[in-house]
Amino acid sequence: MSKGSGRLALLLSGRGSNLGAFLRAQQTGQLQGSVEAVISNRPDAAGLKIARDAGIATATVDHTLYESREAFDEVLAQKIDGFEPDVIVLAGFMRILTANFVDRFRGRLINIHPSLLPKYRGLNTHQRALDAGECEGGATVHFVTADLDEGPGILQTPVPIEDGDTAASLANRVLPFEHQLYPHAANLVLTGQVSLSKRGAVWNDEILPPGGQIWKPNCQ
Ligand code: GAR
Repeated sequence: MSKGSGRLALLLSGRGSNLGAFLRAQQTGQLQGSVEAVISNRPDAAGLKIARDAGIATATVDHTLYESREAFDEVLAQKIDGFEPDVIVLAGFMRILTANFVDRFRGRLINIHPSLLPKYRGLNTHQRALDAGECEGGATVHFVTADLDEGPGILQTPVPIEDGDTAASLANRVLPFEHQLYPHAANLVLTGQVSLSKRGAVWNDEILPPGGQIWKPNCQ
């Protein structure tokens, strides 16, 4: 697998399709870095197998074995540090992180969320967008801060809602957009083009809107 300049650690809890997208981007030279480690809080996460099959180091920190979020986060942070990543990518990592953890990796910790933030933080994003009569859903890559899904946006991509859409059909249509969006947004952080300041995410000396820059694949 080709190596880029920066080191990525990717955290996941489930199937790992976004991990697959990072690995494809790396293989085709479109990622400005290399996935050095995949860490999961669930020993049975399918994404761990994807990583192992690709020859990437894996680790599990099973949250059910810790009495507190603080204890879990401390072990997780040590595990991450052991891989010396430049950027930590949350890709379907379904744990709320403590403020201490987030501060430790401030400006290097990014997440993808399946909505056009700041709309629909939290869970069931697609159903809530449908219930609200939205004409588009989408996904946002953002810096992680202590407030859930409230960190400054980097890039977001809108996806039209179609007649008859269900939460499942919309999720299925948004996912391929996530796969293009996320490695691209990670590159901006890996190369230092986008950074986190006290006032928000900064790109070319400009503070980005709360949800980040709108991004449409094949349209840049
Ligand atoms: C993705 O749709 C991602 O946006 C979402 O979990 C899925 C993970 O899929 N993340 C969140 O909901 C975070 N709040 P994957 O395991 O196939 O990459």
